[in-house]
Amino acid sequence: MEHIYDSMTLEDFDMLGKKLAALLDGGGFIAFFGDLGAGKTTLVKLIAKNLGITEIASPTFTVVREHETSDKKAFFHFDAYRLEDEDELSAIGFDDYIERAKDGIIVMEWSENVLGLLPDDRLDIAITGSGDMKRTVKLSAYGKHHESILRGLLA
Ligand SMILES: Nc1ncnc2c1ncn2[C@@H]1O[C@H](COP(=O)(O)OP(=O)(O)OP(=O)(O)O)[C@@H](O)[C@H]1O
Ligand SMILES: [Mg+2]
Repeated sequence: MEHIYDSMTLEDFDMLGKKLAALLDGGGFIAFFGDLGAGKTTLVKLIAKNLGITEIASPTFTVVREHETSDKKAFFHFDAYRLEDEDELSAIGFDDYIERAKDGIIVMEWSENVLGLLPDDRLDIAITGSGDMKRTVKLSAYGKHHESILRGLLA
């Protein structure tokens, strides 16, 4: 199941982040795709803000940052930009993070770099555009849980 939003401004991102946060009540895995400056961290921040997390940073030198939502759910923010390969993500215990975030939330920037390790059930968010351009955002949901999140977004 998929949906494409064209011409998204920062205000549209704001609304998207708010809606997604509300729909992530039962947890979820969001895989972000898109070039440098596409707006991945921006959207992660907006989702997180609506879950009571304000200290999201661009994790340039950190592969993962752990947060907690205001209702005590795990929120793990990964950035695979600097990973050489998937083994590096496995080596820091990616499976354990998935296990620990069972009803929590994982967001992954630069999912392109670790495609083979992404869970089958997930929501892909691919952002295109940069600079002052409006963004195209393609959402693809896999598995019942994430399909229902996407359906909720479109409702
Ligand atoms: N929808 C939008 N319209 C216009 N500008 C946007 C939009 N979304 C984000 N931006 C701007 O584009 C920049 C995106 O930076 P951001 O750090 O979010 O990108 P990123 O995809 O995480 O890049 P990186 O791969 O380097 O981590 C920010 O300056 C942000 O304000
Ligand atoms: Mg980023």
